[in-house]
Amino acid sequence: MYLNSEQEKMLRGDYGWATAKAIELLVRIGEAVGAKDLIEVKHVHVSGVSYTNIGKYGLDLILDFYRNGGRSRVFTTINPGCVDYSGLSGNIIDNSFIDSQREIDSALIGMGFKPTYTCIPYYYRFPLPAEHLAWGESSAVIFANSIYGAFTNREAGPVALASSITGYTYNSGLHLLENRVAKVHVKVPKYLLSNPPGAIGLWLGEHVKEPPYLEGLAGDLSEIKLLLSSMAASGNHALAVLSEVTPHNTYRLEIEEKVEVDKFELEDYTGEHVSRGERVLGYIGCPHLHPWELLNILRHVRKCRGVKRGELLITIPPEYLLRLRSAVYALKALGVNVATGTCPIVSRLSSKFDIVLTNSGKAAFYLKRIHGIKVGLAKTEEVIRHVCRASN
Ligand code: F3S
Repeated sequence: MYLNSEQEKMLRGDYGWATAKAIELLVRIGEAVGAKDLIEVKHVHVSGVSYTNIGKYGLDLILDFYRNGGRSRVFTTINPGCVDYSGLSGNIIDNSFIDSQREIDSALIGMGFKPTYTCIPYYYRFPLPAEHLAWGESSAVIFANSIYGAFTNREAGPVALASSITGYTYNSGLHLLENRVAKVHVKVPKYLLSNPPGAIGLWLGEHVKEPPYLEGLAGDLSEIKLLLSSMAASGNHALAVLSEVTPHNTYRLEIEEKVEVDKFELEDYTGEHVSRGERVLGYIGCPHLHPWELLNILRHVRKCRGVKRGELLITIPPEYLLRLRSAVYALKALGVNVATGTCPIVSRLSSKFDIVLTNSGKAAFYLKRIHGIKVGLAKTEEVIRHVCRASN
């Protein structure tokens, strides 16, 4: 692989042990996937920072980089951890890993990463079309590539860490226009949009293997976000080209196949139904809510005069406690449980419910697989309606 003089010096150890190890990792991965060189990145987003997910091995790796002088050379944000430091939520209060999570967090902050604890890094910095990023977090990656037209692969935690310390990533995969090719034309008919977008996303993830060209979705960005994150969860997708949305010159169309979403199969992706007498937890906020989504939920909850206390959980970036304080506390006053900087997937639910009803296909996918929880999928308004005080 070609390395410029700065990269050679990094590899030689002139910038210290951590930088040498970091660039060595990038070079090794790059060579394995046939990259010809390394490219500069403008924003790194590190996932895999929750102690629940990465355990002692992950903690030690982060500490190794930190204690040996690893410092970020580029704007870096971090994904949710397993602790809600605000202590606001009554549903996620399992703090058994709080000391280990604190160790992770102080090392990441010591390295110069912004303590964002959110999976929507685009809230902090909008990516530009064709700008190179090194992002982890599948839901953010597919959003960056498909909505903003930025160029990023799905990076595992250690690789994103290495990119932050060096400022580079390996130049292959979705960093190259020639690989950003949509080959499958999928038309989503209007009448199917009454289904939860998460269910459509889960179906697409499993049935379409190549990056799709999606027609018929140019509507609500919030629904597109839910669809894309679900698709990335069930199918490892990192790019979908959306007609009228994805910026031009950030993809190519070479359609080889046409596919129709099967309306009868969608039912299989909406999960379980709520049975009479079951204790339900409504969950909204996977991926974390953007401010406009938070305000929209507040509007719905107000309309139904609040929710049954503790039966609706939302997850948001911690920063909203400052920037959207009155909206957050208005939701709390209306019975909503608000968790900041975490989520029930990278942490765990502490209260007992028979079923979680969520608008998120990604949450449904992982809550069932990782935590063995019974889950149903519904549209956002239906989730709220289900736990509404007024429906009593
Ligand atoms: Fe974010 Fe947790 Fe979902 S990290 S994308 S809310 S699984």
